[in-house]
Amino acid sequence: CGIVGYVGKRDSQNILIEGLKKLEYRGYDSAGVAVFTKDGLQVKKSKGRLANLESKLGESPLTGSIGIGHTRWATHGKPSDVNSHPHTDNSQKFSVVHNGIIENYISLKEELVAKGHVFVSETDTEVISHLIASLYDGDIVKAVQQAVSRMRGAFALGVLTEYEPEKLVAVRLASPLVIGVGEGENFIGSDIPAILDYTRNVYILNDGEMAVLTTDGVELMTLEGNFISRELFHVDWDIVTAEKAGFDHFMLKEIHEQPKAYRDTLSSRIDASGTRVVLDEVKMSQDDIRSIQQVHIVACGTAYHAGLVGKGIIEKLARIPVETDVASEYRYRSPIITPNTLVMVVSQSGETADTLAALREAKRCGARVVAITNVVGSSVAREADDVITTWAGPEIAVASTKAYTSQLVAFYLFGLYLAQTLGTQEAGYIADVIAELKRLPEKVERILEQADTIKNWAEQVATHNNLFFIGRGLDYAVALEGSLKLKEISYIHSEAYAAGELKHGTLALIEEGIPVIALATQEELLEKTVSNIKEVKARGAHVFGLNAEGETELVKTVDEVFAIPHTLQLLSPALSVVPLQLLAYYASLARGNDVDKPRNLAKSVTVE
Ligand code: G6P
Repeated sequence: CGIVGYVGKRDSQNILIEGLKKLEYRGYDSAGVAVFTKDGLQVKKSKGRLANLESKLGESPLTGSIGIGHTRWATHGKPSDVNSHPHTDNSQKFSVVHNGIIENYISLKEELVAKGHVFVSETDTEVISHLIASLYDGDIVKAVQQAVSRMRGAFALGVLTEYEPEKLVAVRLASPLVIGVGEGENFIGSDIPAILDYTRNVYILNDGEMAVLTTDGVELMTLEGNFISRELFHVDWDIVTAEKAGFDHFMLKEIHEQPKAYRDTLSSRIDASGTRVVLDEVKMSQDDIRSIQQVHIVACGTAYHAGLVGKGIIEKLARIPVETDVASEYRYRSPIITPNTLVMVVSQSGETADTLAALREAKRCGARVVAITNVVGSSVAREADDVITTWAGPEIAVASTKAYTSQLVAFYLFGLYLAQTLGTQEAGYIADVIAELKRLPEKVERILEQADTIKNWAEQVATHNNLFFIGRGLDYAVALEGSLKLKEISYIHSEAYAAGELKHGTLALIEEGIPVIALATQEELLEKTVSNIKEVKARGAHVFGLNAEGETELVKTVDEVFAIPHTLQLLSPALSVVPLQLLAYYASLARGNDVDKPRNLAKSVTVE
């Protein structure tokens, strides 16, 4: 989602709308603005495209020179007019736009309801406007500071109150926010493109900082109220670079957003002791869970590959048999679905026609459907019985990266949740997996720091027209995704093979110099994989090996090696896919392709 805000002398409505248009690339499902008019603080908002909001404003404009605006990407509560931002309190004197998630909003809401506050939306954001209103005693800065001290989560805010109409208060806590400094006017934006048409002088807020904007100036301070002095940052990027936050492509930006996507997808789903998974969104009773006899995972493309890892995770943790199917096949093969079958559909967009059709077929046969999706309010989310949302944020590049890895996290959480209920794993092991899950973001960052090694691999690979990915067990599932990523954006033909299956035919295709990417992160299978690597080496392959840090055997067999940080074998897909994403990215770049928009492919496919 996106935030914009303006204080100055010009009419704010158009500045807000133009700013929001610059944030459209981030994806959104509704939009709204609040402006101080001569009749007080007025709000207009609308579900759907910005054009809907513009036409509402066209009919009855909001005239005033201070305002805030927002495009929403639904998290808590479906996309609708009433759930759109800005949100107000019951007195309509306070107005808030917000990006991010307030983890403890339910308890705050209960407290405010007990005090007589009446809520109109399903959002966590509305809690903020009520909370600020309840704490206000003449100083909006203090009220915001007090409110923020009560809120847990990662967020950015823009706040207006009719009582101090000259001020716009902005807060950043782990969700980006920039302040644009003009002459006699100042701006806020959730990223630089929103304000770049008006000023190139910005303050970039750090976590735990806030700003008070008036027509005359900007004061920066910590959330505790200590003033900060900071140099202005002069932006010399063009708008296209700015949208990508300085990265050359959305795909690279999204690869780098994976540590955050991991943190966000995990946060609030692990209890305070760090030893148990809490999945409030799954409404299955203990009896429902005990009655599951089989799980069917159904999805397309990259989400299908996440489902292949999901099979490994659920079978290992919950000891329930799992089948993973491509959605377009599932429906037409008369799958054996009983009331004791749990069907899981996985979809980034939540709109893929094949996946949706499979979901409907499963429901028709009486199965319970759990969806893993990145888009709240999507068709899949609406029609499934339970939804586990991946908090990856909007994904723009056609080649999916952070959505896939967040889907893996959703499977880890769900697998652990089943294991807790079924008692299939010791509490100590569950706690170990959780502890390791929490370490993934930092480990992904370590991989990203070594991107140059993979870039070098990619430049070698890019000169070939054919290559192989091999691996066993979970490494095989990741090999399939690595191979798909490479094909999608570099147009190099590749095949992913179960390492042990190569000798049953495909070995015929191995010839002098052919690149083979060998995944060997599964310690239990290492020896066997090494034997298969020797088979391709003996026929002249140039082998790029992936192993776990500290492992010493692989290096003796392969030509080049990249070590992923050590983790539990079960969790290694969440790390080992990252170098493969980078490999695809740099190979596509080396071949001069359009990385973010590969030929013939669409981000969301709504035809069967
Ligand atoms: C399209 C995209 C793929 C994606 C697949 C499933 O084919 O190009 O990248 O994996 O759809 O999309 P979904 O939104 O259901 O995850």
